[in-house]
Amino acid sequence: CGIVGYIGTQTASEILLSGLEKLEYRGYDSAGVATVHDGQLQCVRAKGKLHHLRDKLEGLENPAQLGIGHTRWATHGKPEEHNAHPHMDNHQRVAVVQNGIIENYRELRAELQERGHQFRSDTDTETIPHTIAEILTQLDGSDRTNAALQATSPLLEAVRQAVNRLEGAFAIAVISADHPDELIVARQQAPLVIGFGQGEFFCASDTPAIVSHTRAVLALENGEIARLTPLGVEIYNFAGDRLRKSPRLLNLNPLLVEKQGFRHFMLKEIYEQPGVIRTCLEAYFNNDWQAGDHEQPPVTLDIPPELYADLEQIEILACGTSWHAGLVGKYLLEQLAGIPTNVQYASEFRYAPSPLRPNVMMVGISQSGETADTLAALATEQQRRNGLDPAYHARLVGITNRPESSLGHLVPHLIDTHAGIEIGVAATKTFLAQLMAFYALALDLGYRRKALTEARIEEIIAGLRQLPAQIEMLLSSQDGAIEELAHEFVETQDFIFIGRGINFPIALEGALKLKEISYIHAEGYPAGEMKHGPIALLDSKVPVVAIAMPGTVYEKVISNAQEAKARDSRIVGVTSLNGKHATDVFDTLLPVPVVDELISPILSVIPLQLLAYHIAARRGLDVDQPRNLAKSVTVE
Ligand code: G6P
Repeated sequence: CGIVGYIGTQTASEILLSGLEKLEYRGYDSAGVATVHDGQLQCVRAKGKLHHLRDKLEGLENPAQLGIGHTRWATHGKPEEHNAHPHMDNHQRVAVVQNGIIENYRELRAELQERGHQFRSDTDTETIPHTIAEILTQLDGSDRTNAALQATSPLLEAVRQAVNRLEGAFAIAVISADHPDELIVARQQAPLVIGFGQGEFFCASDTPAIVSHTRAVLALENGEIARLTPLGVEIYNFAGDRLRKSPRLLNLNPLLVEKQGFRHFMLKEIYEQPGVIRTCLEAYFNNDWQAGDHEQPPVTLDIPPELYADLEQIEILACGTSWHAGLVGKYLLEQLAGIPTNVQYASEFRYAPSPLRPNVMMVGISQSGETADTLAALATEQQRRNGLDPAYHARLVGITNRPESSLGHLVPHLIDTHAGIEIGVAATKTFLAQLMAFYALALDLGYRRKALTEARIEEIIAGLRQLPAQIEMLLSSQDGAIEELAHEFVETQDFIFIGRGINFPIALEGALKLKEISYIHAEGYPAGEMKHGPIALLDSKVPVVAIAMPGTVYEKVISNAQEAKARDSRIVGVTSLNGKHATDVFDTLLPVPVVDELISPILSVIPLQLLAYHIAARRGLDVDQPRNLAKSVTVE
């Protein structure tokens, strides 16, 4: 979900709406804003995408200079207007927007109902304004009350007491009709940043919402609460102690959040990939080494050698597309650095961690750095290992596109993927950048552990350096052809993607991209497994996309594709032009330049991104904001 808030001298509702537009990728089931003016709260909400809310607000004269807004990804309660945020108390004096899940909301709700509160939604969030309103009527100087804070601001004190009663993960923003000069925000396991302007202050669940107004931002940490007034920002912990903190300057370019002539963000982001690879090459690899000066190591990651000492195992934790990048990472870490590696879904690992072993490095990958499951899996593992013999301590590394995110705060060592902000919900350029991070990590480890010869390292890096030009070539020569091809699949209902070895995760990613944005059922399989089940699905209506890159498993994939062809499936091959038998087996060829098999996933995924994109665009679907999804899922 996305949160924005504003307090200052400008008209709040316009700032809130434009902020929500920038956050719509975080959820778009419904949206709403609440503002305070003349001692009254005005709350307007609408089901569906943001333009419905904009239509409702049009024509409403609203000079308020204080307000909060929200765009929702439904957790509790259907995406209906009555479940849209902001939520208010019975007397419509307090309004709240929230991101996260309140786990004890049933108990709180029952308690409040007993005290006469009436609920109008099915959400967990609605318990918060009721709780705050209840506390506001009872601020009586009892031992629970922090008198100093109450004297500063009763609303702040009431929110502080309320957050101490909430269990779960949340970021909230609160306003009250009785406190027209204050905006209170709090954070517990869900992101929230504060923006500092001149006589005006902002809050948001992510920086794109405020970067056009100010670059000075401060990310709240867990257990912090802040009071924003037109005069400034005060920050406290949940116990009520004042904290001293200052904002830092963001270097996010507001232009990046525009489509720049492309029809969709996703297509723009696919086209940005050559540039992203160039930036990663620059950031991760030592130019001098490549030029023959081997004094310094070839890889320039900011990871101290102690982290690699006696390393026996790597555990990779991630969700979604990042998990697919982890699978490619496992292949590289095992084949290049010789270290046994597991890749786990963070949501599974949380409740069934692997047995404890010493000398394990945990690698958390998250594009957004805010995925709740990934953060929690890493944090639980860190805690589980604390207090044990130092060999058991967690060695944590994060791979993220947002170094300023919660993941960035949680782990001591980060690999920044430098992809620039990604808006399309379906990850494309950030996936490629995550792969680049794994090449760097595996080569760094392979070099330091002497698992690789210098010649092999040189060869791989030289191959990586060819990629930007090869991707440019692929995009310019293939985009039109894939767009044509997409026409033929507009009515298709099922797709199978097959690949082997390092390209098996790419089959999974190709299938995920397609189902996410085109709503076509798609499965990714290791090509050799097809005969053990999915082959039963095949007939002339079910196309098979086979990734057959030259290398150890090329012939095997060709045979597996042949098996599918014998069941009348149409076979699309992502392969090199001159591959043996390619033209006999594949009905359609999506040619990819010939490269070292180890590097091939970076190229083979691109035709699959384009295929998914063009099928979805052709079907007239909302490519950048597919139904039911959100870019960063900050709930468990
Ligand atoms: C969401 C997105 C996916 C993404 C996953 C993990 O489900 O829709 O595209 O892969 O989260 O996100 P992360 O930010 O942790 O990489």
